[in-house]
Amino acid sequence: MTPLVLAYGDVILRDRIPADIADHRRWLTSETAWLEWDAPWEKIDERWVQKYLQRMAETLRRPLPPVRSTLEICHRDGTHIGMVNAYYIDGDKEKPAVGITLRESRYWGRGLGSQAFPLWLDYLFRAGGYPRLYCQTWSGNTRMVRLALKCGFRESQRLVNCREVQGRRYDALTFVLSRCRFAGLPVPDRR
Ligand SMILES: CC(C)(COP(=O)(O)OP(=O)(O)OC[C@H]1O[C@@H](n2cnc3c(N)ncnc32)[C@H](O)[C@@H]1OP(=O)(O)O)[C@@H](O)C(=O)NCCC(=O)NCCS
Repeated sequence: MTPLVLAYGDVILRDRIPADIADHRRWLTSETAWLEWDAPWEKIDERWVQKYLQRMAETLRRPLPPVRSTLEICHRDGTHIGMVNAYYIDGDKEKPAVGITLRESRYWGRGLGSQAFPLWLDYLFRAGGYPRLYCQTWSGNTRMVRLALKCGFRESQRLVNCREVQGRRYDALTFVLSRCRFAGLPVPDRR
């Protein structure tokens, strides 16, 4: 299957290549600031990291799926900066969800998430044919909340005080976005 490359503005979304694994290892060992924002209540240890990287290497040896569940994010300057993913909430096929992490923290707050996330949503609505997509985060993650809202997501569930981060309680948030609403948003043509 032909590798997938999607481009918009300063970002490129592309299929994973073997060289990406070294970056993912670094993002789990030294460049780890993103972990304080992406489900910081989940504890990861050395064993988990090894398994994660091993699974990644195994997936690279398999054929690409027709609809991708993950793509790597690169900056136009060539730097590999993170990834987007798709999964089913609690394994429920009626609840496809999307995620994004810019794992290189020096690239945060520069509008790159605002380019990469709608590109990923556009791809999944078209290729996956989903009527709606969900997105999960927590109330302390202002960048992610604002990004979800500006992409058209609306809050669909709020579990008050159910997340604890650095001794403070936050709400667990689920957002939902319908394909119709996304299609109607005033975004530039990304094809
Ligand atoms: C969340 C993330 C994808 C956002 O991407 P980004 O490129 O940093 O964000 P952008 O520059 O596109 O800005 C998105 C919104 O956040 C706002 N924002 C950016 N930096 C901010 C900051 N330090 N404080 C508050 N808001 C901020 C922007 O103003 C924008 O909102 P607006 O358009 O309504 O003004 C990225 O920061 C990231 O990956 N963080 C670490 C991992 C993570 O949190 N992933 C999400 C897990 S659920």
